[in-house]
Amino acid sequence: MRILLFSGKGGVGKTSLAAATGVRLAQLGKRTLVMSVDPAHSLGDAFNLGGDLFHQRTSEPFAILPTLDIQEVNIQHEIRRHWQEINGYVSSVLRTTGVSDVEAEELAILPGMEELSAMMYVNQYQREGRYDVLVLDCAPTAESLRFVSMPTTLEWYMKHIFPFQRTMLKAVRPIANRVSPVELPPDNYFSNIAQLFRKLEGIDTLLSDPAITSVRLVTNAERMVLRETQRTFVYFSLHGLTVDAILANRVLPVEIHDQFFVEWRTSQQAILAEMEEYFAPVAVRRVPLFTHEVLGRDRLEELARALYSDAQDPAAVVRAGRPYTFEKLEDRWEIHLDLPFASKGEVGLFKKADELVIEIGTLRRHIGLPTSMAALEPKRARLESGKLVVELRER
Ligand SMILES: Nc1ncnc2c1ncn2[C@@H]1O[C@H](COP(=O)(O)OP(=O)(O)OP(=O)(O)O)[C@@H](O)[C@H]1O
Ligand SMILES: [Mg+2]
Repeated sequence: MRILLFSGKGGVGKTSLAAATGVRLAQLGKRTLVMSVDPAHSLGDAFNLGGDLFHQRTSEPFAILPTLDIQEVNIQHEIRRHWQEINGYVSSVLRTTGVSDVEAEELAILPGMEELSAMMYVNQYQREGRYDVLVLDCAPTAESLRFVSMPTTLEWYMKHIFPFQRTMLKAVRPIANRVSPVELPPDNYFSNIAQLFRKLEGIDTLLSDPAITSVRLVTNAERMVLRETQRTFVYFSLHGLTVDAILANRVLPVEIHDQFFVEWRTSQQAILAEMEEYFAPVAVRRVPLFTHEVLGRDRLEELARALYSDAQDPAAVVRAGRPYTFEKLEDRWEIHLDLPFASKGEVGLFKKADELVIEIGTLRRHIGLPTSMAALEPKRARLESGKLVVELRER
């Protein structure tokens, strides 16, 4: 199974491009599911399903074409399926703090539940072998990063906090429940979490295998959007995911000559050139601004034609390598960067705010450092068989 993950800033066109990709894949005969991981779903709208059955929001895959399903993960339904115990506990705690029943139910939907549920589905579909391709339409950047970092966070929780919490509660529950105003979680709360965790096992391997998962970053040719895209690119790399294409959406078509757009066009061209240089060797693909919104099958097909050539398989693995990886060692961090053309003595290195700047001859590469590494200082760099290794340490 292939997983194509569409991420990017709010409103750039993730849902439209994910849906168009789904339509193209289905037409190529691949069993495809487009799944919306964004709590503010609009996948049904992209297919113009209106008041259709789909909007009864059952969370189940809904058939659009013989080989195309779409699914919007519905958190209320998921709670009934997986979260009853956990949710029940959290809302009972909230109620003891004086929040009304309805409010408690709402508040008990913890952030991250949609992402977790979506991941369970990904695992389930992988196991069942039901689809050839899963297209994930993610929420705007911040949340999709939460999606990909969730497995590591959970693993940490399960390793370090979970066993301790469970043992401790076993010991104190009999007394504590008599004296404490807040009821402690029943033991099935823990077995539920452990069961959940098992459902998620292996998901990080799926996400970090470039032969399975590829990230497509959707962007617009605007400076502010580009900055976020660069940062996202680095974050995905940090979590071990491979970005294999940048999709620059809503590029002004050449046939527009209106004076009003002259400046827009000039700045778009400049930013597109910058994008290509920055993301190389990852391809930047351009998608024109259409004269209309992208709603319904026909429009999605039109968008797919702009995005892919006739014979092109959107699920083909085009990039197996990771452009750079971050590694935490005992006393330092290392960044490993593919630099097949560099030779010793050519590489300059310095830090500018929270970016690491690498100069190779006249070429300059900015690497946005993740927050956890922003305060570190580059100490040493060495070239090892086409790779640049940068050591960073605390000041
Ligand atoms: N190339 C295009 N030309 C014209 N309209 C477009 C194009 N791409 C997307 N749109 C329209 O722009 C709007 C936003 O697109 P879309 O919903 O796909 O973005 P999104 O990134 O998924 O947004 P969100 O972050 O809210 O999920 C939609 O109305 C869509 O039809
Ligand atoms: Mg969307």
